[in-house]
Amino acid sequence: MTAHPAPHVLSHPGLAGGPVYLDYNATTPVDARMAEAMAAQLSDLFGNPSSSHLYGERPRAALRHAREQVAALIGARPHEIVFTASGSEADLLALRGAVLAAGRPRPHVITQATEHPAILQTCHALARLYGARVTVLPVGGDGLVDPAALAAALDDETVLVSVMAANNETGALQPLPDLAALAHARGAMLHCDAAQAVGKIAVDVEALGVDLLTVVGHKMYAPKGIAALFVREGVALEPVVYGGGQERGLRAGTENVALTAALGTAADLAARDLADGEPARLTALRDDLHKKLADGLPGRVHLNGPLQRRLPNTLNVSIDGVLGHELLAATPQLAASTGSACHSGTHTPSPVLTAMGLDADRALAAVRLSLGRWSTPADIETAATALIKAAV
Ligand SMILES: Cc1ncc(COP(=O)(O)O)c(C=O)c1O
Repeated sequence: MTAHPAPHVLSHPGLAGGPVYLDYNATTPVDARMAEAMAAQLSDLFGNPSSSHLYGERPRAALRHAREQVAALIGARPHEIVFTASGSEADLLALRGAVLAAGRPRPHVITQATEHPAILQTCHALARLYGARVTVLPVGGDGLVDPAALAAALDDETVLVSVMAANNETGALQPLPDLAALAHARGAMLHCDAAQAVGKIAVDVEALGVDLLTVVGHKMYAPKGIAALFVREGVALEPVVYGGGQERGLRAGTENVALTAALGTAADLAARDLADGEPARLTALRDDLHKKLADGLPGRVHLNGPLQRRLPNTLNVSIDGVLGHELLAATPQLAASTGSACHSGTHTPSPVLTAMGLDADRALAAVRLSLGRWSTPADIETAATALIKAAV
């Protein structure tokens, strides 16, 4: 295990002089190595990867290499990786694609209450546009789905189950292998939105037993606007974009080779981080932050989400006697988030925390502190001191 970030990542120009960044689950700073990976494609290698002449060759090779890199990170085969422009689009391709390809008159889709809106809103659209029947499973107080609830909800019409790997607000890790086994036993497929998990913990599509899995670049130090869907060989999907047949015909449009190169490089760097003990480094920093807050505000700090089954970088706590958004407004030394939404000055509690059964006071008192590649012990000290001072 490395005690500190490797020397090449000791500082990030985008963070220099700014508040301590504790919002890595919202998006990650772009690693400088992305620019290197993309540079050639943005200038010299302008060719269309589908062209048969010489100008197409190198972009085609770069695209192939990126697909291999992403596949390697998640234990997939390169031809099972479909590039998309966002995680939301990958989720759409998975859900709409599976439902339409099933060709059932009243397809049944099962998801769960703490999914990202990219999943929940897509499910609503499938119900509205295609008559799909949607079951939203509840979660327990720790945010986890009970496999028995899935077993009870599955029926002969169930086409697809979509359950995330890790929750974006609490870091809760769902029991995917159990859920996949149950879905498969009833002839349904399992899609997993792994936007928050890939790169932060080991993700292996075979070990999870998933048929479809979403990977998102801007959660793993690549730029925004690039993502991928793992589509297990043999899984039939309706395309999300029709046209020239790119991406196995599932997502037409001339590929953005530069961004795929960035995602491929991000996948390589993530694999290196995982092997070098970055999850353990972040767990130690996160738990230190938690302890400092609990010690500084005795009896007032409550963890939201599971203590153990959790992403290494995520700490979601409610602090008695504060409103999360007011606390963060009073601590400009740090950049973090709450799960609450503000509409015309009124704050509504996070749907994720509400689904976990937290009352409005506790949910509105929540702050999400998420760490990453450039988080340091000094950051933790600064954040803890500021939060305690503002909450006292
Ligand atoms: C769990 C999860 N799924 C999907 C998304 C959407 O990804 P994108 O912003 O690339 O559409 C996010 C991003 O916040 C996320 O956290």
